[in-house]
Amino acid sequence: MEAEAVKSNLVLILDYGSQYTHLITRRIRSLSVFSLCISGTSSIQSIADLNPSVIILSGGPHSVHAPLAPSFPDEFIEYVQSNGVYVLGICYGLHLLVQKLGGEVMVGEKQEYGRMEIEVLKGGSGLFDKGVDDRQVVWMSHGDEAVRLPDGFEVVARSQQGAVAAVENPARRFYGLQYHPEVTHSPKGMETLRYFLFDVCGITAGWKMEDVLEEEVKVIRGMLGPEDHVICALSGGVDSTVAATLVHKAIGDRLHCVFVDNGLLRYKERERVMETFEKDLHLPVTCVDATEQFLSKLKGVVDPERKRKIIGKEFICIFDAFAQDLEQKWGNRPAYLVQGTLYPDVIESCPPPGSGRTHSHTIKSHHNVGGLPKDMKLKLIEPLKLLFKDEVRELGRILSVPVGFLKRHPFPGPGLAVRVLGDVTEGNALDILREVDEIFIQSIKNAGIYDSIWQAFAVFLPIRSVGVQGDQRTHSHVVALRAVTSQDGMTADWYNFDHKFLDDVARKICNSVRGVNRVVQDITSKPPSTIEWE
Ligand code: XMP
Repeated sequence: MEAEAVKSNLVLILDYGSQYTHLITRRIRSLSVFSLCISGTSSIQSIADLNPSVIILSGGPHSVHAPLAPSFPDEFIEYVQSNGVYVLGICYGLHLLVQKLGGEVMVGEKQEYGRMEIEVLKGGSGLFDKGVDDRQVVWMSHGDEAVRLPDGFEVVARSQQGAVAAVENPARRFYGLQYHPEVTHSPKGMETLRYFLFDVCGITAGWKMEDVLEEEVKVIRGMLGPEDHVICALSGGVDSTVAATLVHKAIGDRLHCVFVDNGLLRYKERERVMETFEKDLHLPVTCVDATEQFLSKLKGVVDPERKRKIIGKEFICIFDAFAQDLEQKWGNRPAYLVQGTLYPDVIESCPPPGSGRTHSHTIKSHHNVGGLPKDMKLKLIEPLKLLFKDEVRELGRILSVPVGFLKRHPFPGPGLAVRVLGDVTEGNALDILREVDEIFIQSIKNAGIYDSIWQAFAVFLPIRSVGVQGDQRTHSHVVALRAVTSQDGMTADWYNFDHKFLDDVARKICNSVRGVNRVVQDITSKPPSTIEWE
């Protein structure tokens, strides 16, 4: 499908802070329809510039009666009506629609939360196809409810308690669901979304990764002058690798990549990733050994945030030196920097309903490349900034990045510095951790469960405990094993290994890694913990 055609089939999500907003975008994209999410309070011009065919008003933790309840701009209703745009309000989005169009929303007496059964009153309407099940299980997460509908609206489904579950005004192309069709707890939800988008709104599916690739290559070629050089910092992770491979396809060897060995990498990481970059992807990469530079700056530092800041700053110094070298070689300074920024990093992450927060706050400062120094004056190329992680993997597959590489677990920019608690330079903590981590990861791979886990790693604890090994009393270190499942790293559950597996791994670690006599497992989810320990 041509880029223009994809754009004219855009489903735009206006975000009012629901924890499920990203999920709606992902679900719609999984139907091969392009979907974007922007703030629910965006101006009418930003909405009109995107020329959406369908607008979904997301759920959110607020009540429409709250004094600062977020809303679409004043001209919204007139805009959608005069441009033939279909509007679907979900939960808070439904309340907003009802209230703005002259209906009434009340704080619900029955507080309908969680799993619930609804009765479809009208199959063959805009939200339910003919012949759908009369009764459906759905997921509700809001106390407020529409008690009086605006003129022209009709109730097409009700909850068991008789509350409004779905409404529509087909003549004006307004639709609303009190529940969340995008979550798996609403088993028929995708059917409803599919029917609504394709059969009612007339959206054509056709958005695919091959088109994204072609479009991005075109955009990059269009934005660069013929003499412009571009640099990219490769971390060894999926995102920066896919971003660099894409840019390399667009501009060839005017791309210059740098891979920094900061002494905080995993076991044989440098050799392994350099081999993939050079042999499989033919990327032009300079490997900089900066172990001393990083570790000397980290000596004695125990505060996690300070570690991150120091590491970020050192990365910048190295990029700067790299850019200067290139300038000497090519006669002009690199003009652009490639970053593997993903969509979830771009859109504000959503606070949980009822949290009272309207913006996420920094839990940890994340440094992919550590921020950009002002005098570097590099413009950014972020070819993945509209994609989710699974979409980046798909793009990588099309770009022939080896599948094993694409499936690698995420690894944080500050590396093992956030997995050695306390001073990373103390004793041989980093080497011990590398060995333990390698045993853990290889055991996971051998057990065939690597792909079922979002991320697994070992953590070095700066404490010693007493043990007995070979009739000798020992006073050695404790290591923790962490493995989690997750969709996007924002929330996570700990992975439930079988006992035999854990038994084997713990035994192997204590028997083969000098300096470790105790292995513990981290069994906390996120929240309340984070995935990394620091
Ligand atoms: P947390 O620990 O915040 O991690 O639950 C969520 C995800 O982000 C990764 N992570 C980082 N990635 N730079 C990165 O590029 C960082 O500073 C950083 N800190 C955490 C973490 O590994 C997990 O996948």
